[in-house]
Amino acid sequence: EYPIIYRVPLPIPPVKQPKMTVANPVTGKDIWYYELETRLFTQQVYPNLGPATLVGYDGMSPGPTFIVPRGTETVVRIMNNAELETSVHLHGSPSRAPFDGWAPDVTQPGEYKDYYWPNEQSGRMLWYHDHAEGITSLNANSGQAGAYILTDPAEDALGLPSGYGEYDIPLVLTSKHYNQDGTLKSTVGEAKSYWGDVIQVNGQPWPFLAVEPRKYRFRFLNAAVSRSFALYFVRAAAPDGKLPFQVIASDAGLLAAPVPVSDMYVAMAERYEIVFDFSAYAGESLELRNLNKVGGIGTDDDYAHTNQVMRFVVGADPVPDNSTVPARLRDVPFPPSSTGIDHHFRFHRSQGEWRINGVGFADVENRVLAHVPRGTVELWELENASGGWSHPIHVHLVDFRVLDRYGDEANRGVMPYESQGLKDVVWLGRHETVLVEAHYRPWDGVYMFHCHNLIHEDHDMMAAFNVTALDA
Ligand code: C2O
Ligand code: CU
Repeated sequence: EYPIIYRVPLPIPPVKQPKMTVANPVTGKDIWYYELETRLFTQQVYPNLGPATLVGYDGMSPGPTFIVPRGTETVVRIMNNAELETSVHLHGSPSRAPFDGWAPDVTQPGEYKDYYWPNEQSGRMLWYHDHAEGITSLNANSGQAGAYILTDPAEDALGLPSGYGEYDIPLVLTSKHYNQDGTLKSTVGEAKSYWGDVIQVNGQPWPFLAVEPRKYRFRFLNAAVSRSFALYFVRAAAPDGKLPFQVIASDAGLLAAPVPVSDMYVAMAERYEIVFDFSAYAGESLELRNLNKVGGIGTDDDYAHTNQVMRFVVGADPVPDNSTVPARLRDVPFPPSSTGIDHHFRFHRSQGEWRINGVGFADVENRVLAHVPRGTVELWELENASGGWSHPIHVHLVDFRVLDRYGDEANRGVMPYESQGLKDVVWLGRHETVLVEAHYRPWDGVYMFHCHNLIHEDHDMMAAFNVTALDA
């Protein structure tokens, strides 16, 4: 029933080209102007079933990859030629509030919106995806997500494996569910989770990638609706032994130093970049796998092949490789330290909905749960009080430091690849409580924070915080 495992090559999303460059008279910076269209398309996902109707940016899923140099501003005109309303969030960007994808700020079919993004932060992989109120899971699952890479000269100088699509490859993970006729099962009607039994990388179920026996940089993005991953590599011929690799970056870019691991957690919306060295495996096949039950941290439903992700077919002939992974990657701009917990947020379920401190986003009167004076550093305690469920929590606008994790029976603490860098999503596994610290700047405005299980986000585990102006 799955005639496609490891048979089709990994697609690489094309690079989105700007239409023109203009100078911003206010900031003096270059603006790259783009036009992007959200529209229906069909794709033959299964060779032996009918095609799936999807809705994606420029008619593809994932959407095209933006590659933008740090310090170049972007204006993206996003035309909604789909059937449902949309709102687009650039996840990982300190965008001004009107361009942050505020869920009720929807663009109707037949209309467009121009988004302005500053791109001032350090190099990283961001992603753009739908954020329309109540239908984010539906829109994102139907294809509205893509990678957005911010390049940085400080990073280019390190000598890491490079070349988009060559030795620097985005791996956008999703997990979907198809009907008997090959059409995509929608998320409508799901109140708790949409696990999916088909693992896709860059839109292709269980692809393979032919690689050279050398180092590669892979940029993982978990763009699934509800599935979290615990990833590891094995030899196809000996799937019991996990192979070593190095984590070099997280949501907000490079870590202070590479973290050697043999497996890692990647919850929804998290980005992790790794370097994998294939030089020891010339002529072999390797597989990227996913631990059942996400190693006990998550509660995902597993299916026949959800422990498999993709295959790497390593060339037999030696190749030159002058890329390196330096022992120090950068000085991470951690926020100045603060004292005392400023806010405590409980993520729980009550009266048939997912909520934060008893509030859901539909509760318009009460949904602003924090007022944060601009420029202050705050410590937030995020408590998973929903029993067996797990929640990856995303805070808009800021990069935060994960200071502590407690309360769970697995007692995993903060993973080194979480603490060595800055993040904008942190995974609250079952019964876990996490402490995050962030510098609330650079803009005033009302921003969202929420669970990134998109079913939970839609129903209704999302609230807001207001970064308030300093007194004159
Ligand atoms: Cu990636 Cu508020 O979202
Ligand atoms: Cu959740």
